[in-house]
Amino acid sequence: MSHKADLVTQASCAAGTVIGGEYEVGQLIARGGVGEVYRVTHRTLQAELALKVLLPEHRDREDVRLRFRTEGRALWEISHPNFVKVHHAGEDAVVGPFLVMELLRGRSLAALLARATIPFEQAIALTIQLAEACQAMHELEMIHRDLKPANVFLVAAGGGEIRAKLLDLGAAKIAKYGTPPTAEHMTVGTGRYMSPEHIACLPLSPASDVYSLAQIAFEMLTRSHPFDPAVAAPTSFDFQQWHLQRPPRRLSELCDEVPEEVSDVLLQAMSKSRVERFQSMTAFARALGQALRLARNSVPHEAPVSPPLAPAGGTRKMSAGELDGPSTEAMAPPFGERADGVVALWVWLQEGAAAKSFPLRAGELHVGRSERVELRLDHPSVSSKHARLVVHPNGIVELFDEGAKTGTWVNERAAKYGMLRHGDRVRLGQVVCELRLVDARLWR
Ligand SMILES: Nc1ncnc2c1ncn2[C@@H]1O[C@H](COP(=O)(O)OP(=O)(O)O)[C@@H](O)[C@H]1O
Ligand SMILES: [Mg+2]
Repeated sequence: MSHKADLVTQASCAAGTVIGGEYEVGQLIARGGVGEVYRVTHRTLQAELALKVLLPEHRDREDVRLRFRTEGRALWEISHPNFVKVHHAGEDAVVGPFLVMELLRGRSLAALLARATIPFEQAIALTIQLAEACQAMHELEMIHRDLKPANVFLVAAGGGEIRAKLLDLGAAKIAKYGTPPTAEHMTVGTGRYMSPEHIACLPLSPASDVYSLAQIAFEMLTRSHPFDPAVAAPTSFDFQQWHLQRPPRRLSELCDEVPEEVSDVLLQAMSKSRVERFQSMTAFARALGQALRLARNSVPHEAPVSPPLAPAGGTRKMSAGELDGPSTEAMAPPFGERADGVVALWVWLQEGAAAKSFPLRAGELHVGRSERVELRLDHPSVSSKHARLVVHPNGIVELFDEGAKTGTWVNERAAKYGMLRHGDRVRLGQVVCELRLVDARLWR
């Protein structure tokens, strides 16, 4: 089925429905992890606008509804040329809370990156625009937490210029609106772009958004990521491990055209330690601008100032005209489940018998022989309440030995406490289990 036909079948609001007494529903533009966005017409003004409603499965969830209302309020407060503009927010008897925005005509950065890299100077200019939008948000004590190409929209700004518009404050941390209603143990965000401190559930700061924006800049220039090029289809979990442990590649090593000065700025923005990064988006944008000027000055006159980078299938400069046409959007995993699609499995490896596999949900559970524990291993060497597991939504699993007589081992080393990773073997008495983290999107 074509993408367009797909969208028609996925629309939960039929064309012609009137929402909030005024907004007549047209075509479904896209579905995100939380909401559906429709093209609508304001009946009195005959104005074309975009309307976002929650996906049907989230409409009864009070935490998601609250977060959605907060998103509208935050977008209204920011009001920046590089942020999508909100016109109205309301509550409809059928679809629940809704948000009316300017209708952006163009395509998301994610849809564009599915087709081409972005020429060097354009990519840096877009990064600076996004940094300015983020700065405005940070000054209002908000942290986006979900910067990614699907949350960036590109519109033609006239004269062939392209303007980036930041979307989706659904995951934002907004200190002054009170504690955001994120479910306990839930990490919002997208593994591929998350800062190390975000993955580790540590406090975030504007420098956390700087890290994610640098990942986006890298991707705009390479359609790749700064980590292991040998892995063909990295999972969200791979990314999380790399963000925590692997040094990023230098951009200039991948593309001759990118000056060392710009590579240095991006490397600093991707420092593992957030104190080593730029502490504000203004500082990041300024450093990028300076690097660009330095690079321009050191380029001989006859050489092209901004050689476009080669997209797959040949070198081509992107023009505003490429922004026309329907936008295509990859489906994001549903909000409220593991945002990263990683599922933890506890595999009981039984000698001479088939392995048994138990999915681990985020939260806390006990392992033991008793019928009252959440994860039962019926073997005489296992104590009735042998160990406790704390499963974090980002794939980290903590193990606590509960004083079991026959002991608990991780990879054959006695452990009272351990932080488990994919492939770790845990032995409870004589029973051997293995933790496996799999990307559910591969088999869903
Ligand atoms: N104002 C808008 N105009 C046009 N398209 C939009 C607009 N807002 C969002 N979209 C499209 O809808 C998609 C999902 O919107 P988003 O706000 O990110 O929803 P979610 O919170 O579900 O991720 C975006 O990636 C974008 O392609
Ligand atoms: Mg989104």
